[in-house]
Amino acid sequence: MSGAKNAALPALAASLLTDRPCTWRNVPRLHDVRTMGRLLAHMGAVVEGEEVVRVDASKLKRQEAPYGLVKTMRASVLVLGPLLARFGRARVSLPGGCAIGERPIDQHLKGLEAMGATIRLRGGYVEARATRLAGALIVFDVVTVTGTENLMMAAALARGRTVLENAALEPEVVDLGCALNAMGARISGLGTPVITIDGVDTLAGADHAVIPDRIEAGTFMVAAAATRGDVRLRGADAAHLDAVITKLRIAGADVRIGRAGIRVRGPAEIAPLDVVTQPHPGFPTDMQAQFMVLATRARGQSLLTETVFENRFMHVSELRRMGADIHVDGRTAILRGPARLQGTTVMASDLRASAALIIAGLVAEGRTEVLRVYHLDRGYERIEKKLRALGARIRRIRGGL
Ligand code: EPZ
Repeated sequence: MSGAKNAALPALAASLLTDRPCTWRNVPRLHDVRTMGRLLAHMGAVVEGEEVVRVDASKLKRQEAPYGLVKTMRASVLVLGPLLARFGRARVSLPGGCAIGERPIDQHLKGLEAMGATIRLRGGYVEARATRLAGALIVFDVVTVTGTENLMMAAALARGRTVLENAALEPEVVDLGCALNAMGARISGLGTPVITIDGVDTLAGADHAVIPDRIEAGTFMVAAAATRGDVRLRGADAAHLDAVITKLRIAGADVRIGRAGIRVRGPAEIAPLDVVTQPHPGFPTDMQAQFMVLATRARGQSLLTETVFENRFMHVSELRRMGADIHVDGRTAILRGPARLQGTTVMASDLRASAALIIAGLVAEGRTEVLRVYHLDRGYERIEKKLRALGARIRRIRGGL
């Protein structure tokens, strides 16, 4: 398994909180990680290395995230909190639309205003100012992963105590909190809905290895289950995958957790599933598309309900083109199986949908061609090489890294 994209991105942004050098380890070699590196360099930070990434943000020239970079990666918004906390100003482009949903950042902005920042939206940019952020009680209206991370980083250098309620519990949030505490922050309640941060005046550098990617692991586990395969995932952390493992076992997969990782053996026949996506520790929305492919092969009726993002069924029409029987009613997809998927040309619409279409290609009869795989390269490191090593007949035709 590679390091987690969604842990590496906030960690790299956290480098902006200190003038001391930071070393981030187990960083996946992904398009999004390179984009974050370019964003930090655009501001004047020195960014070196891959997998082990060193960042020196001691001589920042500007506190700005331009539209050109933000439009390619929404997670760029994670520089807002650190810049405002350390420099008292930040100009960050609003992310704009996304295939899977509207994805506003109102909770991020509301939290920073509660900490005393003045926020102006001008020309598609967030312009934020603050002499020094002050601790506050912030109750999130919705559970937001990057919102929790942004405000946790901002509060780390604020005056006084901040309490984040209805905070996100994702392992990536906890990993960021641990890295910040190693830099001298005072954060407690990580992994619970109430996170308390007592601000400090300055932070030291970091030397932190990010957690393994649970969504990459989950993707390979579904691929093993859907292909009647037998795969061992070295370095995967089962503690981050309870909901995924539970659903795979209900589907009939044999999932064994060992010191070296997780072993998954696919069943001869897949049992129907009932999945509802939720914030962690609920079933991850980033695994919904992959599980939909599994459900197309299940004997009987399966239900998949997407509650986190309002438009995350873009893969349904592509799976139907391959012969899947899927009916969508509001936020629930109703599947009847087992469907015999037929290989054809399909279009990836977003990162996780592209992974799902690859799994569909592995179980389909004949050849499948997945277009727009640039989505894939944003979040999966060398996926076709890893799959080929497991016996997949897959190759990249054009583009990509
Ligand atoms: C993070 O996105 C992940 N990205 C996403 O992974 C993941 O799907 C998502 O969390 C949910 O688990 C990173 O960590 C970089 P949210 P984030 O804020 O933080 C609404 C992948 O495939 N909301 O938790 O942007 C929002 O619209 C990506 O790797 C507000 O209304 O997601 C959504 O419906 C895709 N206002 C819900 O909350 C806000 O201010 C959860 O979004 C913020 C969020």
